[in-house]
Amino acid sequence: MKRFSPLFLALGLTFSAQASDGNDVEVLHWWTSGGEARSVDTLKEMMKREGHVWRDFAVAGRAGESAINTLRIRALSGNPPDAAQIKGPEIQEWGKLGFLASVDDVAKEQRWNELVPHRVSDYLKVDGHYVAVPFNIHRVNWLWANADVLNKVGVQPPQTLDEFFSVAEKIKAAGYIPLALGNEPWQETTLFELIALAVMGTDEFHKAFIEQDSDALTSNKMRETLEVFRRMKQYTDIDSPGRNWSDTTSLVIDGKAAMQMMGDWAKGEFLAAGKQAGKDFLCIPAPGTANQFSFNIDSFVFFKNGATQTTESQKMLAKLILDPDFQREFNLSKGSIPVRVDIDMEGFDACAQDSMQAFLRAAATDNLVASLSHNMAIGRASQIALFDVISRFFNDDNVDIDETMRHIRAAVLADRL
Ligand code: BGC
Repeated sequence: MKRFSPLFLALGLTFSAQASDGNDVEVLHWWTSGGEARSVDTLKEMMKREGHVWRDFAVAGRAGESAINTLRIRALSGNPPDAAQIKGPEIQEWGKLGFLASVDDVAKEQRWNELVPHRVSDYLKVDGHYVAVPFNIHRVNWLWANADVLNKVGVQPPQTLDEFFSVAEKIKAAGYIPLALGNEPWQETTLFELIALAVMGTDEFHKAFIEQDSDALTSNKMRETLEVFRRMKQYTDIDSPGRNWSDTTSLVIDGKAAMQMMGDWAKGEFLAAGKQAGKDFLCIPAPGTANQFSFNIDSFVFFKNGATQTTESQKMLAKLILDPDFQREFNLSKGSIPVRVDIDMEGFDACAQDSMQAFLRAAATDNLVASLSHNMAIGRASQIALFDVISRFFNDDNVDIDETMRHIRAAVLADRL
């Protein structure tokens, strides 16, 4: 018999949904690019080996926006999947509404409290109970470059924003696209975030986007961030409207563009195309952010779905995600670093080694920052509003900076409504 959450009942929603029989698990996620699919296939295989059936519900696009919209419709009609990819503050939003099942049993058995850094595990709990299981730690503030293109142009990868502009000018003059950017609001907001980190510094960034301080959201540093952001547009390519992130990475892989600023899931695309870190492509911190680490943690949650307790398949899935072998396999191809603190980094490439060092350094110096563009800093309502403001500003040179700062403040503060 399917069990409905109080919210379904309040809304009068009692759709009959097929309860899973305990041996299969339907998983809603958005890992569909070449690198992403390769990584999640590892988990599908492991589930199969353990005798469970993975029913795939993949919804491509917009770094999860389309998947989350589909998830909302399904959950509100009383037919949620068994597991879904949700992260950051949104885990709390779903948990507080009573949708999510606890995986405390698995967490206790596998000693998650000892294996996962507290900065990460805080995101995974609702009222002290684990309701989500983490895969990895992605670093968002990276710049990816095609080594051959930089060589031909005779430039070094830029380490500061000033260097970025002088290098981009030379790349443009040589006939390449300096900065590959697909014009989807989340891609634009990723670029905005990385500029904000460099211009504002960690403290001011934190004040503005995490503490949601009204003055910091409209400060001179915010103005400067927007000015730099607008200036970068001339170095992006005109074919960018609507292009997804992995096709955008392909421009760098194929040597049509020199650079992309994107989280390290981009590395998964280089690897899937058979490219080698340090030889074919370079990974350097986004200009001006070498000391900072903008983190983005992928996680799955489990829906209360029919049974009164988590099913065997849901439990097995939770368990496998933190299995040491899976942590290695998955993160080697996904581009992220393992979320377990005890995984040997032997065999990981230079980008992953750098990422691990950067994480430890940033943790020790208070330079870890929850990613603004990847649902780690603000809730969904704010996120959607912010994407809209940033995209409008970037795409229309007539949009006023002061007005945009007021809109940014309103978008971020919407979280408190
Ligand atoms: C997720 C990554 C994913 C990327 C692009 C990010 O928000 O955290 O796992 O690869 O979106 O789809």
